[in-house]
Amino acid sequence: MTRSDLCEGPATSALQEVRDFYEKMPYPAPVDNLDRERDLYANPQRRRAQFHLTWPNERPRANQEILVAGCGTSQAARYALREPDARVTAIDVSKTSLRHTLDLQRKYNLNNLELHHLPIEDVRKLARSFDLVVCTGVLHHMPDPDHGLRALRDVLRPQGAMRLMVYARYGRAGVYMMQEYCRLLGIRASEDDLRGLAAVLAALSADHPISGVLRRAKDFRQPEAMADALLHPQDRAYSVPVLYAWLDRCGMSFGRWIEQAPYLAQCGMVARSPHAARLASLPSRLQHAAVEIFRGTMVSHDFIAYRDDRSEVSQPITFAGDSWRDYIPIALPGTVCVRERLPPGSVAVLINRSHKFTDLVCTVDSFEDRLLGAIDGNRTLAEILQFTAQDGDGDCRALRFFERLWQYDQVVFDASRAVAEPSGP
Ligand SMILES: C[S@@+](CC[C@H](N)C(=O)[O-])C[C@H]1O[C@@H](n2cnc3c(N)ncnc32)[C@H](O)[C@@H]1O
Repeated sequence: MTRSDLCEGPATSALQEVRDFYEKMPYPAPVDNLDRERDLYANPQRRRAQFHLTWPNERPRANQEILVAGCGTSQAARYALREPDARVTAIDVSKTSLRHTLDLQRKYNLNNLELHHLPIEDVRKLARSFDLVVCTGVLHHMPDPDHGLRALRDVLRPQGAMRLMVYARYGRAGVYMMQEYCRLLGIRASEDDLRGLAAVLAALSADHPISGVLRRAKDFRQPEAMADALLHPQDRAYSVPVLYAWLDRCGMSFGRWIEQAPYLAQCGMVARSPHAARLASLPSRLQHAAVEIFRGTMVSHDFIAYRDDRSEVSQPITFAGDSWRDYIPIALPGTVCVRERLPPGSVAVLINRSHKFTDLVCTVDSFEDRLLGAIDGNRTLAEILQFTAQDGDGDCRALRFFERLWQYDQVVFDASRAVAEPSGP
């Protein structure tokens, strides 16, 4: 650890409890190998896609300052590894978690990483400001998440962005039931109790409200994950409207969902439902709120937010007007193209492996396949149209296809060459 500012911070008993919990049960389960992460991010397109997801209309920033707030056991080391030109600062209240991060820092010689034993509530003590604040799986554990988010906003640069993850309410209904069960039985995070709890979870009926979570969460059977989900002393969850209201209250504005297709009324089953037209007539916030309920099983919300006083439009992607012609599509990592066992009329099906919903596949016909093949991370949409020799009508179809690729999380756009469309009245 390059520096340790021990938390004299808010000495509330709730914060103490959270700190003690993570001293004993660091989460995620510690790892000692980040080779895969290093190899994946050796591909500069992967970093470029991440950058433009956050800042579509900017050119990559050199020497970014990144704060990983509540870094846990490995997240800060991952960021330092994948962003060698950035300076990464990590804070956490758990010394155990920081020690695991320190081991990774030494192993991978991460000179661009600085660790601090500091609560988010005291982040101003760093006397620094950041381009990117990453805070995933932390704010919902704070006794006062408003205080936490405001403290992070205070150290976010005016043109900066936050990458946040908080629990989602409806998909976690079964988790809250099992938390209550554990409280009733006095189950603790001891080896014995966790072994017993794993056996009980395995014996639950397939209809139990937690069963879907158990099936989908890869690491749920690991003691650290089980304790984090079921024995945590402090946690809350957000529905989409509660999340939006929280951001508004704390001086932040919503940017985009990291994976947007699960929230969009234009994607998947919901777009083919009898309610599609009604949904489409709602303002986007209400669409997202309704689609969260339609899906019912989201367990977390991953999203990007900005300061509400940011001077530029933060997510300017639009297919109205002409600015889309200058967008450069970049394929998102985790997307795959399948060319077997296809629905009639399709020559390919595109899947984003990060999606947890199987209806979010994007079908491609032969016309669209030519456009897809012309995406190389350099050509603008206008150049792709020229390259594939579209006529006037082809332009419209092509535009709809690129919009669909974007909605379905197949591509992000580098919009840094596009002139922003004037905003509406
Ligand atoms: C669920 S883990 C998430 C770790 C990491 N963000 C990730 O996604 O892998 C939550 C982490 O937040 C830390 N934490 C909780 N409350 C905190 C606070 N008030 N200030 C700083 N860190 C906190 C915990 O010690 C723990 O390491």
